[in-house]
This record gives sequence, structure tokens and C-alpha cells, in this order.
Amino acid sequence: AELLAGPKPLAGKRVLITAGGTIERLDPVRYITNDSSGKMGFALAEEARALGADVTVVWARTELAPPPVAEVVRVESAQEMYDAVMARLPSMDVVIKAAAVADYRPVQREKIKMKKGPDKLTLELVRNPDILQAIGDWRHDGGGAGKDKPYVIGFAAETGDAERYALDKLRRKRCDLIAANDVSEPGAGFGTDTNILSLYGAEGLVESLPLQSKREAAGRIWRIALARAPGLLT
Ligand code: CTP
Ligand code: CA
Repeated sequence: AELLAGPKPLAGKRVLITAGGTIERLDPVRYITNDSSGKMGFALAEEARALGADVTVVWARTELAPPPVAEVVRVESAQEMYDAVMARLPSMDVVIKAAAVADYRPVQREKIKMKKGPDKLTLELVRNPDILQAIGDWRHDGGGAGKDKPYVIGFAAETGDAERYALDKLRRKRCDLIAANDVSEPGAGFGTDTNILSLYGAEGLVESLPLQSKREAAGRIWRIALARAPGLLT
């Protein structure tokens, strides 16, 4: 609540948030996707707007429509999301990758609806670009090298040893903060209105959030980011 009093802490700041699950098409009417609802990304966008930010939402398939932020960019595939994010990266102060990006897409995308044929059909898939990795690489030794922005927050959906996997992702993808949820826990993860997140920074665990609404969790994430990124407040 204290963040909302007085001057808005993200006034004049540009924030890009990705949300939803990408769609990887096989043909004009069939695709591969995942259970992401888009709720966590949209909650972060709404909270950023309430804090005064100029918000861009890049969204793929979701259950809901995005909040009324400054810019909304609808995409379908991981490749389209990659293009939309990378084109806007240089002007952003914060980037949050809440989207569930498909790791693979069909090698072949048919122009016309596929006809059924033999009893067995093998689908060949190829790896998608890793957008969070590309952002980290750009900031460290690409076009963004030497700049202190954007501040980058990633997500990690894990089952099992969430801490180890989340810290590994944080280091490999070179982001500033990673929000991990154990999607096997009830009340956490895909589709729910609540979440149980643990935030990790380079030094390890920053904070374990209790089960709470995605909007409340979004507020906590922003508070932590503002406390850890002094450049955001200048
Ligand atoms: N991510 C991304 N581009 C991809 C895959 C993931 O930007 N092609 C981002 C997600 O938006 C998320 C973070 O990377 O912020 C972690 O995603 P996750 O699926 O948990 O990690 P992966 O690196 O894909 O590893 P794995 O699925 O094997 O656990
Ligand atoms: Ca993945």
C-alpha cells in the first residue's frame, strides 16, 4: 500500500511483460500449446500500470483478455514473441517473461489442412529460440552490453527440485530475478487464481511468498524488484 502513496515509483518507466502460452501450428486449424492462462503476466502488467509504468504486454494464447495497458501486442508462436520482444528491448527499463513459451514447434507447418493417412504418424519437432536467454545474452554481450537496463525477471515452472533448477536458469539465462513455482502443488501454477512463488537472485533465495492471489504476488514481485534495482527508482 505504501508504494501507491505519493509519487508513483514506476512513473515514466517502460515495462514489457509477456503472458500466455505460445501456439505452434501444424496446419491452419491445428496447433500445439500449453495450459498457461496468462493470469500471472496480466497481474504483473496491471500492477505495473498501477505503479505508474508505461506498460507493453506481448501476449499469446490466454484465458482472458489483457488489461488496458499502453501497448498490447498479440502474437501466436515463440518466434513471433521473440521478434516482438527483441524489437522493443532497447527502449525497456524492465522485462518480465511470464509467458509459457513452447520449447519446440513442428518442423513443418502445412499450408493446407492435413489429411489423415497411415495408422501411425510421427511428428517432428524443432527447438524454438529461447527468448529469455536471448535477452540475457543481448544485455551482457550483445547490443545492450554496458547498459544497466533492462532489469530482467524470468519465471520457472518446476516440479521437484525447484530451487536447483531455478538457480540454474537464473545463471544460464543471466536474468536478475527468477520467480519459481512448483506446478505440482495445489494452488500454484497454470490456470489457478493463486500462486506459491519463490524468488531467487544471484545470491540464492530472496523470498518465499505464501499462497496468495496472483495480483498480490505481482505486488510483491514489483516491491522486491524496486528494492533490488536502484536504477529503476532514479
Ligand atoms: N523461456 C523463453 N523462451 C523459451 C523457453 C522459455 O523465454 N523458448 C522463458 C520463460 O518465459 C520463462 C523461463 O524462460 O521465463 C523459464 O522457462 P522454463 O520453461 O521454466 O525453462 P526452460 O529453459 O524452457 O527449461 P525446461 O522447460 O527444460 O525446464
Ligand atoms: Ca520450457
